[in-house]
Amino acid sequence: MERRTKKEKEWINKFRVDWAEDSLGLWSVKYFEVEDKSIENLRLALHGRPCIPGTYSKLVHQHRGIIMSDTTAEALDHYEAYQQAKGRVLINGLGLGCFLRIILTKPEVTHVDVVEIDKDVIGLVGRYFFSDERVTIHCANALTYEWGRKKWDVVWHDIWDNLCTDNIEEMERLRTKFAKHCDWQGCWCETEVANMLYT
Ligand SMILES: C[S@@+](CC[C@H](N)C(=O)[O-])C[C@H]1O[C@@H](n2cnc3c(N)ncnc32)[C@H](O)[C@@H]1O
Repeated sequence: MERRTKKEKEWINKFRVDWAEDSLGLWSVKYFEVEDKSIENLRLALHGRPCIPGTYSKLVHQHRGIIMSDTTAEALDHYEAYQQAKGRVLINGLGLGCFLRIILTKPEVTHVDVVEIDKDVIGLVGRYFFSDERVTIHCANALTYEWGRKKWDVVWHDIWDNLCTDNIEEMERLRTKFAKHCDWQGCWCETEVANMLYT
């Protein structure tokens, strides 16, 4: 297991959500254990995504499997975007709401638009944000949603179920679509996916 700095450990803990276990339609939020030397954690480590042992939450789709979890690697994947987040933010892909929840802890984040394609993800996870005046959730396809001239300080794209080179085309589409609409944008695991092309 990789050694983590105190700062990394604090971030990894902060990223974790505390939603209730629940289901809606084909989606569920469930808790799960990651044990130190379990086969599961060795498998994650082999893929460069080891996890600090503990209890975590996952968003599961009945047919597509685990779509998001608040595990170590996911926390680290979202760190740069968290640091960038300020002013008006757009998040494409609500998922387990980890990134939305954590950026709302920053007072410098004044408003967040979230685009989520699945109404049941909004019902299951988005409901925790319905009363937050800084949050607007749009049920729509991030790739095609028309925003007009709207602009954001930061845009974060995370609409993918897993690490796969097929994601590259959508990453490029989103980057092009939002290039003139934000000061900074990022895609989940863009470098890792690009590296997969050469390994
Ligand atoms: C991996 S999860 C996002 C995880 C999120 N970053 C978090 O912190 O929990 C991906 C989400 O994107 C949604 N999604 C997939 N395709 C989409 C699209 N074209 N437009 C908007 N949302 C989409 C999925 O339903 C899912 O909720």
